[in-house]
Amino acid sequence: MEDIKKSQSISELRSVYDMMSLKGKKALVTGAAGGIGRTTATALAEVGADVALMDIPAKQDLLEKYCRQIADLHNVRTIPVTGDVSTPDAVAAFMAEIEKEFGTLHVVHNNAGVALPGDDSDIPYETYNQYVAINQTGVLLVMQASANMMKKNGNGGSIINTASISAHIINRGRPGLDRNCPGYPSVKAAVKHMTRAMAAEYVDDNIRVNSISPGYIVSGLHDEWDVGILEWFASTVPMGRLGQLDELMGVIVYLASDLSTYATGTDIIIDGGYTIW
Ligand SMILES: NC(=O)c1ccc[n+]([C@@H]2O[C@H](COP(=O)([O-])OP(=O)(O)OC[C@H]3O[C@@H](n4cnc5c(N)ncnc54)[C@H](O)[C@@H]3O)[C@@H](O)[C@H]2O)c1
Repeated sequence: MEDIKKSQSISELRSVYDMMSLKGKKALVTGAAGGIGRTTATALAEVGADVALMDIPAKQDLLEKYCRQIADLHNVRTIPVTGDVSTPDAVAAFMAEIEKEFGTLHVVHNNAGVALPGDDSDIPYETYNQYVAINQTGVLLVMQASANMMKKNGNGGSIINTASISAHIINRGRPGLDRNCPGYPSVKAAVKHMTRAMAAEYVDDNIRVNSISPGYIVSGLHDEWDVGILEWFASTVPMGRLGQLDELMGVIVYLASDLSTYATGTDIIIDGGYTIW
């Protein structure tokens, strides 16, 4: 048995660049036709992973375009896969396609999600159920299917769920615009909590499960929002601005790679300080 008191010397420390590498690894990003997904797929490719980019069938063309761009940029293999993360049969189908093409998965960014209009105290039944189906059940289904593939192949792996600052706080409604969002924050809080439960479940299989909680990131998600609302949100962030997509690349590479081998069941907030106040 190793000496429990023996700490590593400087010469025993591994190289940060070696730990960061995902060369030879296979990754999946869901919601990859969206802003955050296409960005994290690019980041994973840059450090060497082959990546499956997954989104809804209506975004097939966009997925193919991003696959070509990422493969050209980083000289890795990329494949587009489509489906609906909230439907067990669809998840089984795209996971089978990935297994056929890649053989296995080592990294999953479980990121598909929606932000829907009408998220106030009168939130319609259908809207709330859509939140649960896509943003919560969808995360569970992809997590289960990914872990099953990792277990079958015995590689261990890293699953990263996209929660949100809304998992930590209730997004403040703009003055005069009463919008305290009972839908989105409650399912994002469920993602954060589910992450912890699954981290404990999969720890013996060497599968780590963590989540990220971005703040307001300019991604396409807010395309329909009024510029005035975005400016007001920016003014509520201690840094005084919205986040940019590449400001999420570091946290994904960290959680996906050997840089974070002692991190599981944790959530990392990247929000310009929003949750300080
Ligand atoms: N942008 C932000 O400010 C922000 C902040 C915190 C958390 N998030 C979360 O980040 C994730 C990505 O969001 P984004 O900002 O890139 O938004 P986005 O709208 O650009 O991307 C989301 C993607 O998910 C896909 N998607 C939706 N329903 C799906 C389904 N049923 N099956 C498969 N794919 C589906 C969409 O087609 C879209 O391409 C979401 O989970 C979102 O809730 C975003």
